[in-house]
Amino acid sequence: MSRKPIIAANWKMNIGPAEGAAFIESFKNIVKGQDIACDTVIVPPFTTIPSVLNALGGCDCIGIGAQNVSEYDNGAYTGEISTTMLQELGLKYVVLGHSERRQYFGETDAIINAKIKKTIAAGLTPIFCIGETKDERLGGILEPVLEIQLKGGLKDLTPEQVADVVIAYEPVWAIGTGLTATSKEAQEAHAFIRKVIADVFGAETAEKVRIQYGGSVKPENVVELMAQPDIDGALVGGASLKPESFAALVTSAK
Ligand code: PGA
Repeated sequence: MSRKPIIAANWKMNIGPAEGAAFIESFKNIVKGQDIACDTVIVPPFTTIPSVLNALGGCDCIGIGAQNVSEYDNGAYTGEISTTMLQELGLKYVVLGHSERRQYFGETDAIINAKIKKTIAAGLTPIFCIGETKDERLGGILEPVLEIQLKGGLKDLTPEQVADVVIAYEPVWAIGTGLTATSKEAQEAHAFIRKVIADVFGAETAEKVRIQYGGSVKPENVVELMAQPDIDGALVGGASLKPESFAALVTSAK
C-alpha cells in the first residue's frame, strides 16, 4: 500500500508576519510549474498564520498548521489558543508532543493525549512527535521510550482515528544539532513504531499511518531518508526557514 509523503516546515519561534508573507510569495515562485508529490505543510507561529494564509490566497497547495493548541475548550486560560480558533482560520494541522514542548513546557503524555483528542474532535490532523534523548538511546531504552510515548499519546483513540494521525519520529539529539540519525537508525525506529501501532490498533491502521522523520533534515539528506520503506516524510525545522531550501525539500519527495 502506498502512503502519500508529507513534508512539514516547523518554523518554531521564527518568522514574523511580514517575513512569512514574503516567504510564501517566494516559495510559490520557486515551485511554480513543478510537480509536488507530497502533502506540503507549513507550521508558523500563531501570529504569523493570518499573513501566511493571506499570501496563499486560497491556494490549497500548502496546508497550514499550528505549533500547539489548548486541551481546554474556552474560558479563563490566559495565553492559550483553542481548537475552535484554529478551525475558524481554516487550519489543517496541529503539531503536538514536540520535544521542545515536553522539555521546556512540561508537557506530559497525558496532556499531549488530551490535546490530540481535542484536535481530532475539531477535524484537524495532529502531527504527533515522539523521540528519545541521547542518553535513552545510549542506555538501550530506545524502544520502551518510544512505546510509552506512543501508547500514552494515542490512548483511547480508535484505529480509524490513529490512521489519520501523522506521527513524527524525532530523536531529540538530532533536533537542531546538525546530527541526523542514519537512514538505517531512522528506518529501524520507524519500523518499530509501525509495529507498536499494528499491535495496538491493528495491521491495517499501521499500514495507513504516515510516519515522518525529523531532526536536521536538509535537502542533502532527505532523499536517502525518504527512500526507507517506513519513512513517509519529514518534519523540518532549520532547513525550512528559507524558501529555497524548503522548496528543494518538497520537490525532492517522490
Ligand atoms: P531541525 O528541527 O530540522 O532544525 O532539526 C526539527 C524539528 O524540531 O521539528
